[in-house]
Amino acid sequence: MRVVSGIQPTGNLHLGNYLGAIVNWVKMQDEGECLFFLADLHAISMPIDPAELSAGTREMTAALIASGIDPDKALLFNQARVPAHAELQWLLNGTARMGWLNRMTQFKDKSGKNREGASIALFAYPVLQAADVLLYNATHVPVGEDQKQHLELARDIAEKFNTDTGTETFVLPEPYIGETAARIMSLRDGSAKMSKSDPSDMSRINLSDDADAIAKKIRKARTDPEPLPETMDGLAERPEARNLVAIYAALAETSQQAVLDEFAGKGFGDFKPALADLTVSVLAPVNERFVALKNDTSALDAILTRGAEKAAAVGAPILADAYRALGLLSGR
Ligand code: TRP
Repeated sequence: MRVVSGIQPTGNLHLGNYLGAIVNWVKMQDEGECLFFLADLHAISMPIDPAELSAGTREMTAALIASGIDPDKALLFNQARVPAHAELQWLLNGTARMGWLNRMTQFKDKSGKNREGASIALFAYPVLQAADVLLYNATHVPVGEDQKQHLELARDIAEKFNTDTGTETFVLPEPYIGETAARIMSLRDGSAKMSKSDPSDMSRINLSDDADAIAKKIRKARTDPEPLPETMDGLAERPEARNLVAIYAALAETSQQAVLDEFAGKGFGDFKPALADLTVSVLAPVNERFVALKNDTSALDAILTRGAEKAAAVGAPILADAYRALGLLSGR
């Protein structure tokens, strides 16, 4: 199993990224060969501030390591340090079809009413994402619900490239669905995903929040006046309550039913303090490591450079095959 996955380096990690993606990454390090990267090349598909982008890339690197990604087990790097990602994307641009990209819901969402003003990079975003995984012959790609369509596209591109060139250059990657791929929602609105772009900081728990901030956000989280039910059915129409139960279960690494078994009949006056204590106990050590590492620019850059060198070596023969399959005299 060779696992490849990326995360956008847009600032700080929050509990939604942590429980939705990172916890799975940490587990996968021990199950297969893993390549994890900061998708800084993807970040420039939207307007960015250059200073914020480099700071965000380093900060996210620190957050990943603080969360348990071990650069001695998994390769950890940023895309921009491995030029083969951009090179392979160009080769795949010959294979990807306008019609396929036109159907991508993320492009529709992000370009909104201003399609004409959207960047070419936003349109071609899924082709770069295909290059990210095909470059390494990934067998498994852990992705959330919102990225499934992009993974499907990567498979379509790989298949068409292989067929058109009469080669077996690329492996078709499978989605990897982790057990705890928890979908964590906003603390203010149980129908919106927890997100770093939500204007209210009370809607999310950041990995950089201290214990007081965490406790306060959970105390103020939106709920309802009912006590917790005995079964999951009782949460069906209660998105905020369900979200807090989901967070508890994910942090405690148990099932949501097990959480209800413990708290059924209790109100949020009892549940919230328990949830706050649990959240602080899981995140405090992460936060401590993060604070210790986040300003150590030279250590972070050394880790990213080392990861990039190793990743480049894994990708080099596959990139060379792709050039050759197309009849390009690249000298690679
Ligand atoms: N587009 C992904 C996201 O926003 C990040 C990403 C970039 C990615 N390249 C990837 C994920 C390759 C998996 C594989 O979440």
